[in-house]
Amino acid sequence: MKIMFYSTKPYDRYWFEPMAKDYGFEIHFVEMRCDEETVSLAKGYDAICIFVNDYVNAAMIDRLHEMRIKGILLRCAGFNNVDLKAAEGRIHVLRVPSYSPEAVAEFAMALLLTVNRYTHKAYTRTRDFNMNINGFMGTDLYRKTAGVVGTGKIGQAMIRILKGFQMEILAFDPYPNPSLDVNYVSLEELVKRSDVISLHCPLTDDTKHLVNEKTISLMKKGVYLVNTSRGALIDTEALIDGLLEKKFAGVGLDVYEEEEGVFYEDRSNEIMQDENLVRLTAFPNVIITSHMGFFTKEATQSITQVTLENAYALETGKPLVNEVLPERG
Ligand code: NAI
Repeated sequence: MKIMFYSTKPYDRYWFEPMAKDYGFEIHFVEMRCDEETVSLAKGYDAICIFVNDYVNAAMIDRLHEMRIKGILLRCAGFNNVDLKAAEGRIHVLRVPSYSPEAVAEFAMALLLTVNRYTHKAYTRTRDFNMNINGFMGTDLYRKTAGVVGTGKIGQAMIRILKGFQMEILAFDPYPNPSLDVNYVSLEELVKRSDVISLHCPLTDDTKHLVNEKTISLMKKGVYLVNTSRGALIDTEALIDGLLEKKFAGVGLDVYEEEEGVFYEDRSNEIMQDENLVRLTAFPNVIITSHMGFFTKEATQSITQVTLENAYALETGKPLVNEVLPERG
């Protein structure tokens, strides 16, 4: 099998190059994103491999079909960037549904601890031999209340970590898990009572802007908010207003509503056009990272294994267990 691999970063090659050899696959790595202009590069290949900020629209599906591409291999869980309806019956779309929930939950906790205890700022001060600790006063997490929104794989991993800090856990999920030792409450009660709120639900029509002007108004003054799920769970404008009103003690964001085309890229020599992103990064109590919660050895190794296993199933006609099909109805 010959695979055209888009949006390549050095860390992609780290696992994919050696493992692809074991499968006898030939991979061509390019740094370009997959879009209307670059899709033609896939001519002569059997499949393309893409990541979260690539996209494949209906016109590109037509083009790939003409080029006899058999599969689109998503090396991620999300599939909102592929036109599944256009692909159905013509090109198989395969993804990696789950890799390491712990990787994302541990990162969510890292964001919370960093924004609470200012370790990132303390590091830069002490490097300059400025040993003054003014402005770095944090809050004990011990016995405080944490609200977890979404109690799937990552939410559960987060609950285990929060319990290690002996926090009281409130949870909200439209499909509560009875085997979990947590106190399920309504979203309204969760936002009202929590000292820390961590988002672990998917982005859907129901969850878009779940954190908005109204939910922020219900939150405690001095609340901590962490989002490692999807940027659009938070209404950015409402978040900025809440920050200006000093509602939040700290906010940790690994995802951002308008992250496409900015996250994963080096734009340090350019004028940043996204005013909300500039505004958010300027708050001393906000920390933003570039969608890297998944980025551990274990998770990336697992993504590689499953992606190549998906390609192998496609090549050998085995059942496509990780195929994504359009929703019915
Ligand atoms: P999961 O599917 O195991 O769990 C999601 C949970 O959210 C389910 O229990 C579901 O019932 C619940 N849910 C659905 N609608 C809800 C609503 N309206 N309110 C509250 N809860 C709701 O998914 P998993 O693996 O735990 O991933 C969660 C999210 O984490 C993903 O959707 C993705 O957006 C994000 N993610 C972020 C990564 C990163 O690198 N920062 C990496 C991987 C995933």
